[in-house]
Amino acid sequence: HSKPRVLSGIQPTGGSYHLGNYLGAVRNWVGMQETHDAFYCVVDLHAITAGHDPKLLRERTRVSVAQLLAVGLDPARCTVFVQSHVPEHAQLGWVMSCITGFGEASRMTQFKDKSSKQGAERSSVGLFTYPILQAADILLYQADSVPVGEDQRQHLELTRDLAQRFNTLFGKTFTLPQPHIVKETAKILDLQDPSAKMSKSASTTNGLIELLEPAAKIAKKIKSAVTDTGRDIVFDPEAKAGVSNLLTIYSALSGRPIAELVEAYAGKGYGDLKKDLAEVVVEFVTPFQQRTQEYLDDPAQLDKLLVIGAEKARTVSVRTLATVYDKIGF
Ligand code: ADP
Ligand code: NA
Repeated sequence: HSKPRVLSGIQPTGGSYHLGNYLGAVRNWVGMQETHDAFYCVVDLHAITAGHDPKLLRERTRVSVAQLLAVGLDPARCTVFVQSHVPEHAQLGWVMSCITGFGEASRMTQFKDKSSKQGAERSSVGLFTYPILQAADILLYQADSVPVGEDQRQHLELTRDLAQRFNTLFGKTFTLPQPHIVKETAKILDLQDPSAKMSKSASTTNGLIELLEPAAKIAKKIKSAVTDTGRDIVFDPEAKAGVSNLLTIYSALSGRPIAELVEAYAGKGYGDLKKDLAEVVVEFVTPFQQRTQEYLDDPAQLDKLLVIGAEKARTVSVRTLATVYDKIGF
């Protein structure tokens, strides 16, 4: 492949993606279609590690794919697929789990975080080995780089360690992927609690902008966002996290630099900023929601795109797995 190859996955959690998922992750994927040989995967195998409803999962996987297409991923310019449609993920996952130390896997902090509610004892082994499957996801495509947020850095380190170990044990097989750390500006905060990142797992959804929720509801959430004391619109993420977050979102969606926005709102109040931002967000989500619905209204076409995506993914994954099986004596 002449362009660098990139692999990125996203869970089908919740059905609708939120503004943080979009600005922090998915939006960058659209740009990388041009510069990279890009593989984008809805990771349904990862979505069953903590209990799930089959009917909901099936539905959410499709809604996820529809949203990815709606933001501009073009199956002619990148490979979009569902993880479970490509059996080599699970197959390579097993092989990689056999060269991972139990202690090494135990040091993954995300398991500690995610299992803390129910306790490690009652968590699934799948949740524990999740980073190993994630390593297989990446290595299967011989990805040169992986766009990751700070929270995924440790998992990418594990991926590199496992690739290196396999290469040493059985001969050069895997490309060592480089982390492609996404720009800091992309961290979107909860509108009601700007000390936390916007997240699906927040205790209330008042500070969460879901891309598929009704536009009027989104506008209302923005207008009731928590702001800071004082009334000046300045960009100061430390002292004025709430207002700064609104400016970050505004700038990211409108393309106007933050400095320009600050200047434009000099002498105006938080209410003016929120009202305008609500419009900007609604202008973005309205056509997005229409496009998503169009994909969902044509299930035969969506199925067809997914079959094509899985076939494209398998032209690479089948070869990698065949090499791996050969090297390890299968
Ligand atoms: P959530 O926290 O809602 O469960 P995930 O952890 O599933 O979201 O994240 C999916 C992708 O979206 C990841 O690449 C993650 O880095 C990105 N992401 C999630 N929340 C945010 C946020 N608030 N700001 C920026 N990026 C985010
Ligand atoms: Na994540």
